[in-house]
Amino acid sequence: MGKIHDALGKYEKKQSLKVVSQDLPTMRETEANAIGAMAAESDSEKRGTGIPDIDPNLVVYHDPASMEAEIFKILRNNILFPKEGAPPPSIMVTSAIPGDGKSFVAANLAVSIAQGVEEYVLLMDCDMRRSSIHRQFGFDDNVPGLSEYLSKGVSLSSLLRKTVVDKLTILPGGSTPDNPSELLSSQAMKHLLEQAKDRYSDRYIIVDSPPPQLTAETTALAKYIDGIIIVVRSGKTPKNLVNDLVDNLGREKILGVVLNGYKTPATERYGYGRYKAYKNGYKKS
Ligand SMILES: Nc1ncnc2c1ncn2[C@@H]1O[C@H](COP(=O)(O)OP(=O)(O)OP(=O)(O)O)[C@@H](O)[C@H]1O
Ligand SMILES: [Mg+2]
Repeated sequence: MGKIHDALGKYEKKQSLKVVSQDLPTMRETEANAIGAMAAESDSEKRGTGIPDIDPNLVVYHDPASMEAEIFKILRNNILFPKEGAPPPSIMVTSAIPGDGKSFVAANLAVSIAQGVEEYVLLMDCDMRRSSIHRQFGFDDNVPGLSEYLSKGVSLSSLLRKTVVDKLTILPGGSTPDNPSELLSSQAMKHLLEQAKDRYSDRYIIVDSPPPQLTAETTALAKYIDGIIIVVRSGKTPKNLVNDLVDNLGREKILGVVLNGYKTPATERYGYGRYKAYKNGYKKS
């Protein structure tokens, strides 16, 4: 258990996030086929209608009634309705190693929150080296974003993009700059988050963060953020690296851990996997 458990235990004592522990049954191939076919059909329906193609892994959008969407709902509810205090207006999603599923969790969580009755969401792609949020929502790679705001002073409002999800706006990562590290740690980045919280005070801000080996960037970003979600890839992310990440980020802001599961051969074909959100420790899978 170690440090993660301590960190989460401490957070629990503050009673600002409910303990969640839920196992998903493994999807049978037939179920995976049905979901995959449904997603493909709805995508093709949209082609030619001016609505962009949406990443099939945006499972909360494609299949809001699925078990996966249900897990994101649990995560959303724990964030929006803490036992004590107000929900954090800005939330960063990070992980200990690349490819754990940060962008997947950030995007699906953002959709899940925006699907609520009242909540508006601004999803920011802060991974300017390999931005991916715009693609998940069907935008081209040349769409400008954070990089243009930070390096060229382009206005924030002109860079925000409405998505196919009502109440969900994205700030794409934009073109890859020469100095993403410096830009993310800059006063301009701090100002951006302050400005976004101020001007869009009715919105939750979800931040997708850069690959975590660049701890300088993630740690700098964390200072300007109210809450942090750590994504752990089940059976893959080394515990000691998760512990190091918690130490680097500081425990106060950590909301909890999302355990992102293996993809089974049946589900891999369609890009759906198993995951669970929990708050009671880093479990061996
Ligand atoms: N539970 C899951 N089920 C299905 N696909 C998943 C799941 N988690 C992640 N993926 C897919 O795995 C790939 C890698 O995930 P993602 O891009 O979210 O990782 P990341 O942590 O953001 O990576 P990076 O560190 O490079 O930014 C993506 O194609 C994503 O859609
Ligand atoms: Mg990513």
